[in-house]
Amino acid sequence: MKRNVFITGASSGIGKAMAYSFGKNGDNLILCARRQEKLQEIKKDIESKHDVRVDIYELDVTKYEKVTDTVKEIIKNSGEIDILINNAGLALGLEKFQDYNISDIERMIDTNIKGLLYITREVIPNMVKNNKGHIINIGSTAGVYAYGGAAVYCATKSAVKFLSDGIRIDTIDKNIKVSTLQPGIVETDFSEVRFHGDKEKAKKVYEGIKALKPEDIADIALYVTNQPEHVQISDVTIMATKQATGFNVHREK
Ligand SMILES: NC(=O)c1ccc[n+]([C@@H]2O[C@H](COP(=O)([O-])OP(=O)(O)OC[C@H]3O[C@@H](n4cnc5c(N)ncnc54)[C@H](OP(=O)(O)O)[C@@H]3O)[C@@H](O)[C@H]2O)c1
Repeated sequence: MKRNVFITGASSGIGKAMAYSFGKNGDNLILCARRQEKLQEIKKDIESKHDVRVDIYELDVTKYEKVTDTVKEIIKNSGEIDILINNAGLALGLEKFQDYNISDIERMIDTNIKGLLYITREVIPNMVKNNKGHIINIGSTAGVYAYGGAAVYCATKSAVKFLSDGIRIDTIDKNIKVSTLQPGIVETDFSEVRFHGDKEKAKKVYEGIKALKPEDIADIALYVTNQPEHVQISDVTIMATKQATGFNVHREK
């Protein structure tokens, strides 16, 4: 039977790659992000390639009331959500904490922690009621190893790991799996967003290192969901071969 896979932040990067890999796997997709035109292109392309249904929703995960209404609409239109992938997230800035812009700090917390909580809080009651479901939260190596200029981003991703663990404990008597994927450097629009649109600065992040591709993370997400019923993969940390910790990378000259 086709699964309903709900991916947040599916308009680019890792979320988009996951939409393609789950679509290729034959799953129905529910995709959300703020940029509708990107989601429309993705929907059209996936539906033309695979026999799956792709529903798209314009959603800013930081808006609680909108999240509540959208999740209700999704369940009404598509039925129960089998897999929720909390992927929407961002880093903003790379400065010493003492120099940080407060609005960047707030947006990271609102998106990476509160947005993930809002979505999960709305989706999980039905999973509990149906005694079935899988939640995948996209953390980061930044949640395992702090690095300079990223105190708040690291703290938000560390929160993702502990939210996953706490939710896994609270649903331990149900057939609900909770997995945290913690990628290292993946080449996406992530750095351009972090540097507020500065493409040159963003390009430098990926220079001299063969970074992970979004498809590498998508393959792992699919693998994690394709395990037998009694197998739960709790955490996966994925790095490029030339990355050793959060920001410890070997760059070829
Ligand atoms: N790239 C890396 O090196 C890396 C490493 C570890 C973890 N991660 C994590 O992986 C996830 C995906 O990042 P990415 O690398 O794929 O970056 P990306 O290409 O910039 O994608 C980020 C996605 O999040 C969505 N998003 C951001 N704010 C949102 C909001 N308020 N509401 C709804 N959607 C929102 C964006 O969509 P819209 O702008 O259309 O809303 C976009 O689809 C993030 O959680 C990031 O922290 C990335």
